[in-house]
Parts: sequence; C-alpha cells; structure tokens
Amino acid sequence: MGQCGITSSKTVLVFLNLIFWVENEVNISIKKVYDEYNGTNSNAQSRAIDYIQRQLQCCGIHNYSDWQNTHWYEESKNNSVPISCCRTNIGSSCTGSLTHPEDLYQEGCEALVVKKLKEIMMYVIWTALTFAVIQMLGMLCACVVLCRRSRDPAYELLITGGTYA
Ligand SMILES: *[C@@H]1O[C@H](CO)[C@@H](O)[C@H](O)[C@H]1NC(C)=O
Ligand SMILES: *[C@@H]1O[C@H](CO)[C@@H](O)[C@H](O)[C@H]1NC(C)=O
Ligand SMILES: *[C@@H]1O[C@H](CO)[C@@H](O)[C@H](O)[C@H]1NC(C)=O
Ligand SMILES: *[C@@H]1O[C@H](CO)[C@@H](O)[C@H](O)[C@H]1NC(C)=O
Repeated sequence: MGQCGITSSKTVLVFLNLIFWVENEVNISIKKVYDEYNGTNSNAQSRAIDYIQRQLQCCGIHNYSDWQNTHWYEESKNNSVPISCCRTNIGSSCTGSLTHPEDLYQEGCEALVVKKLKEIMMYVIWTALTFAVIQMLGMLCACVVLCRRSRDPAYELLITGGTYA
C-alpha cells in the first residue's frame, strides 16, 4: 500500500504538469488562431473562433480590444469585431462595431477556454481514478475470499460444495 501511495502521488504530479502544459499550449496557440481569422466559413480557424465566442460568450483573447491587433480588423477597416462577439440577449441591432462596446461580450476567451479544458480534464482524471479504486477494491475482495478459503475449512467446504448435510 506504501508503494501504491508513491505511485498515486507521482500520477497526480504528472496530471498537474499535463494541465499546466495544456494551459500554456492554449495560451500560445490562441493568439495564432486569432491572427489567422478571416471571417469566412471555408476557414477552419474562423469557424472555431466564431463557435467558441458564441458558446462561451466571450470576445477576443483577454477582451474585445484584442481584435484591434488582428489582420482581419486591419483589413476590414470598419472598426468592427466579428458578429460572434455580439451579446444575443440585447436584440439584433448589434453589428460588432466598436462604437457600441456595451453590445459585445466583455470577457476574453483565453481564460474561459482554459477553464473549460480544465473541467474536462478533471472529469477524465476523476473517472480514471474512480475506476482504478473500484478495480483495487475488487482485487482486495478477491484476495480476502482466497485468503479466507485457504484458512477456513468450513468455508472451503461451502465453496467446493462439500457433503455437509
Ligand atoms: C494563460 O492565460 C490565462 C488567462 O489569461 C492566465 O490566467 C494563465 O496564467 C495563463 N497560463 C499560462 C501557463 O501562461
Ligand atoms: C480565408 O482562408 C481560407 C483558408 O484558410 C481561404 O480559402 C479563403 O480564401 C480566405 N478568405 C479570404 C476572404 O481571405
Ligand atoms: C482590454 O485589456 C487590455 C489589457 O489586456 C487593457 O489595456 C484594456 O484597457 C482592456 N479594454 C477594455 C475595454 O476593458
Ligand atoms: C466590417 O467588415 C467585415 C469584413 O469585410 C464584415 O464582415 C462586417 O460585417 C463589417 N461590419 C460592419 C459593421 O459593417
């Protein structure tokens, strides 16, 4: 069981490292993806960003101001962010224009994506741990039964269907 404790704390450390690595990876690549946005449906990056902004109700990396540093913003030259930044609960008047920033989602997407990924990873980790514990309990039960069987003659009779009665 001591061995088991060492193994599981090592496993937890590996998972924590993994979570940090994923977080770092998201933070690095999200900037690249925002820069490759071009607002067309044929562009996978654009579809991904529009989807994330709508689903997580966020805009930009840290806030909507980040759009001002993207290629798409510089090329469209109308002082707007994508429509997917528009809050849906305020009606259909939102065009994504930065002259009405109150119509846009105020939260940045980076923190929300990281939070969502962490939730999913925690779920996976807890599920894996639960199965590991169940398996260990199963092995423990089997062990108890086998150990008892070798020591308790009455129990052995019961199991081998001895002619008792
Ligand atoms: C990633 O970005 C989030 C949100 O901006 C920040 O809180 C976090 O510290 C960053 N993580 C890393 C590993 O840079
Ligand atoms: C957007 O990017 C896709 C591929 O990434 C390309 O096929 C498409 O022509 C681009 N659209 C514009 C308007 O630049
Ligand atoms: C957006 O975030 C930047 C820093 O990341 C900050 O300087 C700027 O004031 C923020 N803009 C708004 C409208 O909150
Ligand atoms: C700004 O330009 C982009 C790209 O041409 C377009 O998709 C968007 O609808 C325009 N926004 C406004 C408010 O005109």
